[in-house]
Amino acid sequence: MLSLEDVSKTYKQQKDSITAVQRTDLTVKKGEFVSLIGPSGCGKSTILDIAAGLIPPTEGKVLFEGKDITGKVGYSAYMPQADVLLPWRTILENAVLSLEMKGIKKKEAKEKAAPLMELFGLKGFENHYPFMLSGGMRQRVSFLRTILYEKEMLLLDEPFGKLDAITRLNLQEWLLGICSQLNLTVLFITHDIDEAIYLSDRIYVMSKRPGKVIKEAKVPFGRPRTADVMAEREFGELKRELIGVLR
Ligand SMILES: Nc1ncnc2c1ncn2[C@@H]1O[C@H](COP(=O)(O)OP(=O)(O)O)[C@@H](O)[C@H]1O
Ligand SMILES: [Mg+2]
Repeated sequence: MLSLEDVSKTYKQQKDSITAVQRTDLTVKKGEFVSLIGPSGCGKSTILDIAAGLIPPTEGKVLFEGKDITGKVGYSAYMPQADVLLPWRTILENAVLSLEMKGIKKKEAKEKAAPLMELFGLKGFENHYPFMLSGGMRQRVSFLRTILYEKEMLLLDEPFGKLDAITRLNLQEWLLGICSQLNLTVLFITHDIDEAIYLSDRIYVMSKRPGKVIKEAKVPFGRPRTADVMAEREFGELKRELIGVLR
């Protein structure tokens, strides 16, 4: 569905330049959940931004269903690393922002989003403001907004990075459910190896900067799956292998 072909990115500053990503290939098939893991600063967000069309690569191209979309937005739904809820908008108003940006009237947008509030565990909080919610709930609002772009392909940049362990586990489980229910295809960024294995069908591992994919691993678990896979022998084996590569 989505592929990056021989993508490199060099950020030019006044005097020097930083090569964030060097000659990387990556593919995500329809219906797949693919994670990209690597140390902080290795170019993960850069790759996601390139995949989303938000920044052009210095070299290489991005294909979506075979079509060259390098530097073009609008093919995938993108959820940035930072929490980007608008404090002056209610939860429902934040969620429907993506629909409004598509030109849909606010009233209609709210009608469309309302039935999804329950699925996202936000029912009863429609008229709350972001500061009134827990971190996990704010993240679900961001997710809902991302889902309302109505794209099959999701690009998620460390969505659970700042949450506590239990909230994180609950949201991971919840995300797996949403993905199968809505038939989503996901490219997911994380620096958490357990999270990558638990959620993914396939994992790409990046090296330190300049980031480059140095390993691709298939996760040996089917779906539906629960957090119980974390106690399986194969989980531990794959984890050890990935740690070895990352070190
Ligand atoms: N807009 C930018 N201008 C200059 N350097 C950047 C820019 N964005 C990212 N970088 C640099 O590129 C490298 C990779 O960054 P990033 O893709 O954010 O990594 P990650 O998401 O893996 O932590 C870092 O060294 C970062 O400082
Ligand atoms: Mg990042």
